[in-house]
Amino acid sequence: MNTKRLTIAVDGPAGSGKSTVTRKVAERIDYLYLNSGSMYRAVTLLSSQKGISPYNKTQLVNLVQKQCQIDFSNNGKTTLLNRIDVSEEIRKPEIEQQVAAVAKIPEVRQEMVKQQRRIAQNGSVIAEGRDVTTVVFPEADLKFYITASVEERARRRFNEFQAKGVDCSFEQIENEIQERDQQDKSRQHSPLKKAEDAIIINTTQITVNQAVDLILEKIKEH
Ligand code: DC
Repeated sequence: MNTKRLTIAVDGPAGSGKSTVTRKVAERIDYLYLNSGSMYRAVTLLSSQKGISPYNKTQLVNLVQKQCQIDFSNNGKTTLLNRIDVSEEIRKPEIEQQVAAVAKIPEVRQEMVKQQRRIAQNGSVIAEGRDVTTVVFPEADLKFYITASVEERARRRFNEFQAKGVDCSFEQIENEIQERDQQDKSRQHSPLKKAEDAIIINTTQITVNQAVDLILEKIKEH
């Protein structure tokens, strides 16, 4: 597809399929895929590597402002923390459990927003997260809000963990998803919400490829 150098922003709750869908759209139109959740995960990993608790705000903010550069390579498939590939490590359950505490610190968010805008400065980017349609790129050319029911999202996460051999129960995952939604939507800074001008894509009953096609259609119309 022949597209201009657009900035496209996609938000939505955990497990809605937004990462998979966004990554595929990026591949189809040859755009950079900017996964902002990976950036908060990378900060969480860095704090753990340095032995700094996510609750030690002063030290954590200092670390993020001075020693944390995040980049993407391989069209966004690889996440680099201070030039080292951390794509696998940031997906581990221990990072998953701590990342919301890190992501709610305003100074961490400010630094990440700065880095997200640096990464996206040349356009031809499709960014994905919780606040990219509302805070990071409020002027994005196109905005989407990808969502699905809690049960369906829990089922998807559970299957992912099962495939990786991680020991967990469905109930545990469902509770974690609900808790994460609660934290993401109620936090004071940059809570997850649908931007007024975002197009809703509900993936509860459609496949990844159908969601990708819907978005490609909207990009074409634009
Ligand atoms: O999408 P994800 O599960 O990889 O996101 C990891 C965490 O980062 C999750 O707790 C939500 C948070 N996050 C955020 O606060 N703002 C973003 N733009 C993206 C993710």
